[in-house]
Amino acid sequence: MNAEDQKRAVGEAAAALVDESIAVLGLGTGSTAVWFVRALAQRLAANGLQPPKCVATSRATETLGRSVGLVMTDLDEAGAVDLTVDGADEIGPGLSLIKGGGGALLREKLVWEASHRCVVIADAGKRAPVLGRFPLPIEVIPFGHATTLKRIIEGLADSGVAAEPALRRMTDGAPFVTDGGNYIYDAPCGAILDPAGVEAALKSITGVVDHGLFLGLADVALIGTDEGVVTLRP
Ligand code: A5P
Repeated sequence: MNAEDQKRAVGEAAAALVDESIAVLGLGTGSTAVWFVRALAQRLAANGLQPPKCVATSRATETLGRSVGLVMTDLDEAGAVDLTVDGADEIGPGLSLIKGGGGALLREKLVWEASHRCVVIADAGKRAPVLGRFPLPIEVIPFGHATTLKRIIEGLADSGVAAEPALRRMTDGAPFVTDGGNYIYDAPCGAILDPAGVEAALKSITGVVDHGLFLGLADVALIGTDEGVVTLRP
């Protein structure tokens, strides 16, 4: 099975988890989440299920959800989310994650943290023995971002990571701007041996809005493999 087939398989497997006990459902962002959203819409229609109210983790997913006929709401209106299904860029020990490759990490984390249960879906290539192969996205306020960057480099160094983060840019060279109006620095960390330390260091820096480390948030992972969908727990 190639990666795209694996993404489709886990998207369909996650859609099968959605039943009428799920009143509010968080929808992730990225190519794997797209498979989930499409499979969900098909499942709801095929089975005549009462549709959940869906909270999107990005404008792109909001648009997709509406286009396939899902009932969309926003996080504040929903208040709490029963289940969120989302992709990841890297899945490390204990279902620690790096997310944000698609730039949606802030809304994703807001929705994940408001969720009773979070299921991460990914192809097998996302698994890693230690986090850090995928550059860690760090979302920053545009004002003074180059100054914030210096503090990020120091904070990473204090947590055992020597990295020179790069400002994420569009193909025309302009900075990539998140749904929240912020910039992203991608930090090529190498092995992150102390993810909790990195998390604490980044969260303490004024100007850093959030980062792509998702620690202790995933309850279950559905991984696409050649042998089918494998379920992992922390
Ligand atoms: C979006 O910002 C990310 O967190 C995605 O969930 C992550 O990049 C996974 O994307 P793919 O499913 O496209 O690999």
